[in-house]
Amino acid sequence: ADKGLKDYYKDYFPIGVAVSPRALQNPAEAALILQQFNSLTPENDMKMGPIHPEENRWNWGPSDAIVDFAQAHKLKVRGHNLCWHEQTPRWLFKNADGSQVSKEVLLKRLHDHIDAVVKRYKGKIYAWDVVNEAIADNPNEFLRNSDWYKICGEDFIAEAFRYAHAADPKAVLFYNDYNTERPEKMERVYKLLKKLKDANVPIDAVGLQGHWSLVEPTEQELRTTIERFGSLGLKVQVTELDVSVYPWEKDRRAKRPDESDAYTPEMQAKQAAQYKMFFKVFRDEKKYLTGITFWNISDHYSWLDTYPVAGRKNHPLLFDENFKPKQAYYEVVKF
Ligand code: G3I
Repeated sequence: ADKGLKDYYKDYFPIGVAVSPRALQNPAEAALILQQFNSLTPENDMKMGPIHPEENRWNWGPSDAIVDFAQAHKLKVRGHNLCWHEQTPRWLFKNADGSQVSKEVLLKRLHDHIDAVVKRYKGKIYAWDVVNEAIADNPNEFLRNSDWYKICGEDFIAEAFRYAHAADPKAVLFYNDYNTERPEKMERVYKLLKKLKDANVPIDAVGLQGHWSLVEPTEQELRTTIERFGSLGLKVQVTELDVSVYPWEKDRRAKRPDESDAYTPEMQAKQAAQYKMFFKVFRDEKKYLTGITFWNISDHYSWLDTYPVAGRKNHPLLFDENFKPKQAYYEVVKF
């Protein structure tokens, strides 16, 4: 069979992809996955809302389907995620009478959730995004003012890592976030990671989500980020890689009637150059990097097409809408 990304990168790191059970059931997508990738991440199905919709009800089906597929085909699995401010179930922050839960109750719920999910997949999931996106979007603030933070203060972060470590001492535990290469955000993430390390919290690694674009990050920003986090003794993975053909702000607002969404040859060439640069940096920084995961399989479907606003078609991945390798793919495997 033809070589895939995983084969070109076998001396470097696993190459993963975010999936849904539906994609695994589509023969064309399943074939592409098995040819190209050797690690899976559930795009949505292990998040607390989908997997734990009520306090005493679990929805294991979709998540089990992904883990079973991985086991059947000897793929690694990265779990995503155990504690996040989005996609939380309705019951989580409330008592039966509708009032807000206490810190003690919320930490107990977090413990019980993490304990159940991590133990269920012990030995089958090698790495977990334990805490996702806890840093504030506003550069002048440190931690995000989420329900987790409002109710628990910053303790929920360290506790989440302790619960996950107790449930599976061998799992590689990650803090995961976006825009980590922007200098101001990098500093705030560094501050959090250093605090956790200094307090002997069982954290092993940091995930750079890698929702990048034609203009960011720069090569220097990317290298600096990997090396700075690496200097804390943490491993690094790029956990949600894609290269949007639009700037960050444009991706997050609706398409105006006069705006084109043509995927021009200029965009394709710039995107191929970006991917080439990113993978050169990844190879150079091999001693810190333990995995690269793409967020979705091909341009047939990207979260950027619909979230947070629908209407502008994006083309952020290495395979086109017909699952064929793009120019960017050939740049990534040529070294
Ligand atoms: O499954 C429901 C469906 O039942 C319902 O009818 C429909 C109506 O809204 O929603 C469906 O759920 C959607 C889900 O994706 C599955 O398609 C949610 O609304 C939608 O919000 C959700 O979006 C996901 C998003 O996280 C949620 O915040 C994206 O697919 C997913 O790619 C995205 O992934 C995140 C990472 O977890 C963390 N880092 C950023 C990344 C991109 O935002």
